[in-house]
Amino acid sequence: MFRLINGNEISSSIYEELKGRIASLRSKGITPGLAVVLVGEDPASQVYVRMKGKKCEELGMHSVTIVLPADTTESELLKKVDELNSDSKIHGFLVQLPLPKNIDEDKVINAIDPRKDVDGFHPSNVGSMLIGKPLFLPATPAGVQQMLIRSGVDISGKHVVVVGRSNIVGKPIAAMLVQKGAGADATVTVVHSRTKNLGELTKLADILIVAMGKARFITADMVKDGAVVIDVGTNRIDDPSSEKGSRLVGDVDFDNVKEKTAAITPVPGGVGPMTICMLMANTVMAAELSLL
Ligand code: GUN
Repeated sequence: MFRLINGNEISSSIYEELKGRIASLRSKGITPGLAVVLVGEDPASQVYVRMKGKKCEELGMHSVTIVLPADTTESELLKKVDELNSDSKIHGFLVQLPLPKNIDEDKVINAIDPRKDVDGFHPSNVGSMLIGKPLFLPATPAGVQQMLIRSGVDISGKHVVVVGRSNIVGKPIAAMLVQKGAGADATVTVVHSRTKNLGELTKLADILIVAMGKARFITADMVKDGAVVIDVGTNRIDDPSSEKGSRLVGDVDFDNVKEKTAAITPVPGGVGPMTICMLMANTVMAAELSLL
């Protein structure tokens, strides 16, 4: 019988811990502040940005949402980044991606003060993470690692197969789990769209982490009996039987894969809730660091 790894439950217990740290900061006159910059009107980004602001308010954090028009120039956005870098009420901020085509994302990320880069996307933070001396870990990979640790999955010495090689999920989770130390020490294989015999490699995984953005790509024949499966995918598919006409599914064919696993994350309610939670944790940490 498989076990469900519940992202709502795990994130709730992390939020309880954060509330104590926020209360302690507030007693010292510091309210952790997060700013989110949204350029344009991408509907998915609007939803994420709203969720981040709402969570800040629930936690008693200071929250600023800056919405800039779709025709914002790169230099206007860089000016906003500079303002946030020197705003003492803002301990962490992020610029929601993707950005409009006329703006160079790398240039914008490079302009963020690494000490306020709560997304962990600045090359300085990526490098620190890679050499095992992290400041801010990127939120989704950090969420995946916390789910494994807090659901009692032993990672040390296990074969982790990561499906997908994005800068936001695949590459950083592989780098984090191969580190020395608690919650890591894994043997890691990364497979991707150009991998030959991908299904033979995923079948070797003790822990399979899937982040490639293809609905129900991982089928039961690609998974070893007793594996732990973490599904980072969120894909909207047509579903005429549902009220909305569509529903969310992961990158794993959950209904057919679940019975083979020791434990698996659902979609929704798995990795999803962990991402904003880890962003909030990074922001609280940024505020704590500002006291040092
Ligand atoms: N777009 C999708 N996910 C993310 C994220 O984690 N951070 C930012 N800045 N943009 C995103």
